[in-house]
Amino acid sequence: MSIIKLLTKKLERTIFTTPSHNQKPIFSQEYASFYKHDFSEIDGFDNLQNPVNSILMAQGIVSDILKTKQSFFVVQGATTAILAAMKTLINPADRVLVARNCHKSVYNGLILTAGMVDWFVPETDEKWGIYTTIDPKKLESTLELNQYKVFIMTSPTYEGINSNIAKISEICKKHDVYLIVDEAHGALYNFSDKLPKTAIEQGADVSVNSLHKSAGALNQTAILNISANIKNIHTTAFQNSLNLFQTSSPSYPLLANIEACINYLNSKNGIKDIENLILEIEKLKSELKRFGIIFYEDDNHDPTKILLRKEGISGFDLSDTLFNDFNIEDEMNNQNSCLYLTGIGTSKQKLEKLKSALKKVKTNPSFELQNIDFQPYPIVKMQPVNAYNKDFIYVNKNDALLKVSNKMILPYPPGIGLLYPGEAIQKWHLDYLNNDVEIIA
Ligand SMILES: Cc1ncc(COP(=O)(O)O)c(C=O)c1O
Repeated sequence: MSIIKLLTKKLERTIFTTPSHNQKPIFSQEYASFYKHDFSEIDGFDNLQNPVNSILMAQGIVSDILKTKQSFFVVQGATTAILAAMKTLINPADRVLVARNCHKSVYNGLILTAGMVDWFVPETDEKWGIYTTIDPKKLESTLELNQYKVFIMTSPTYEGINSNIAKISEICKKHDVYLIVDEAHGALYNFSDKLPKTAIEQGADVSVNSLHKSAGALNQTAILNISANIKNIHTTAFQNSLNLFQTSSPSYPLLANIEACINYLNSKNGIKDIENLILEIEKLKSELKRFGIIFYEDDNHDPTKILLRKEGISGFDLSDTLFNDFNIEDEMNNQNSCLYLTGIGTSKQKLEKLKSALKKVKTNPSFELQNIDFQPYPIVKMQPVNAYNKDFIYVNKNDALLKVSNKMILPYPPGIGLLYPGEAIQKWHLDYLNNDVEIIA
């Protein structure tokens, strides 16, 4: 029986188990529906840590749909899926290559695995102020220098930039390196030819999807995907690692939500919703281009992430104007551009509202966009595992240059570290730091 059916069928039993609310709210009545299907592992309800029944079946169906060897349901976000993937593939002291634009969970994974990191800096686009792709040639030369166990990268990026995973996975295989792709923002890719191919289809060993970002599921829902072609490792090892990090009381509504999400995306209606969304965005773009709006577009760009600039106005001012005058909030903005994320739940009306506002924003013809400088390569003084939980002292900002930071500089979104503990403080970091700077003693 599916997880959804299991939760919705009338329970004829009297249960003296957790959770203690008895499926009814005692307080906060407005959340009654949260309680209704909130069970724990009562008899017949299967167990996420050792699934043999409904959860196993639901995961199997999702695995078939996503064309994986195994797909695991995760109720603590892509974060936990990333940690589990890393813990499975990385042993202490293994060398790990990590794209610098990875989410901070990868840094946390380096602490937990005691992997030794080298950072790989992706290509950048100074006009848009964003990281773009992983250059396969540069990757190949890096892999020739050292034997890495794993390469971890993000594709698509927050802004929808996709790297050539087919080429990258070919290079990783040639060098005997596992490839983990954080595909948190690419959960719709399996369901439309108008979107890039999935990382798993292109040869990645492991990928992670976040279902709440674009696929319409609840916060914290995610999937960990293992490729049928992964070498020398049993999928049970991933289950074991998930069991290290995941709660022993997973939310059944979240599990049912994962099942429902993938089944819906795979249905005629789901596929139609995605195609309609892409079509509506195409229409929005072609109309707005006549109003001085410039969109980030290339062959491998995910159109559901609307990244734009407007002539005659900075990204910050555009963001503020849309927020203050039109009540529209973007996901992220920088000096030049604004990012509007869409997904399966984005209505035509919502896009119309954005379109109408963007047309009305006043601009200054003499304003010129400046390129955005990118950070130089990080100076790693201590590996993440060694920098963790160290004694620290405070120094004045004027004396902080090249000292080893005990703090992260981490703008969120996108949750990509500009400085991590164990790295030397460089000149451009100083703008982000308080007068008293925490450094490792
Ligand atoms: C690229 C990327 N990976 C992973 C995550 C973590 O996802 P979650 O919030 O589902 O744990 C995020 C969240 O912002 C992200 O942007």
